Amino acid sequence: MVDLPVLLEIKSQLAIAKTLHVLSFVIWVGGMFFAHNALRPIATILLKPNQRLPLMSQVLNRFTAWVWLALILLWISGVWLILLYGGMANVQPYVHAMMLLATIMTVVFLYLVFGALRGLKQSLANKDLKSAAKFLAKIRWVIFTNLSLGLLTIIIVTAGK
Ligand code: HEM
Repeated sequence: MVDLPVLLEIKSQLAIAKTLHVLSFVIWVGGMFFAHNALRPIATILLKPNQRLPLMSQVLNRFTAWVWLALILLWISGVWLILLYGGMANVQPYVHAMMLLATIMTVVFLYLVFGALRGLKQSLANKDLKSAAKFLAKIRWVIFTNLSLGLLTIIIVTAGK
């Protein structure tokens, strides 16, 4: 029998961990939705490459700094939740699926920061707009991939629950 104070303590830890978890993926997935579906198409229509490419580079630079924070909180809160549920053996299959998808998303994010975005910044520093445009086209697909995986994760978890 678990006594009441211990139960209340676990309940409040669950509430904190879940809140951090939800805030983290809302910032990450919501930010990608905005960048891919609102900012990028309108910037393409309204701005010339010499304005659009630096804008996207700086916006993504700022956004990825926030995603680092969200990513760290997402993993900490996720592991914390698993520990509160009593370990991997006690969680539902959708949590295993969530961890797998989040691992892929994390690897894709690392490629974005250390591969495509770095290439975009380097090309702009060299004033090579042609190469910068190629990197931005890559970034578009990278963000589309992670956005799709993020939305899929939310659907799987919500349906799984
Ligand atoms: C972008 C990646 C992720 C997304 C979109 C996501 C999404 C979600 C959602 C929508 C919930 C349900 C929240 C609620 O109950 O209201 C949840 C809960 C949870 N997540 Fe994640 N998550 C992600 C990554 C992770 C990672 C990396 C871990 C583990 C290290 C993890 C572990 C958990 C656990 C244990 C729960 C509680 C499940 C339950 O209450 O049955 N998640 N997540």
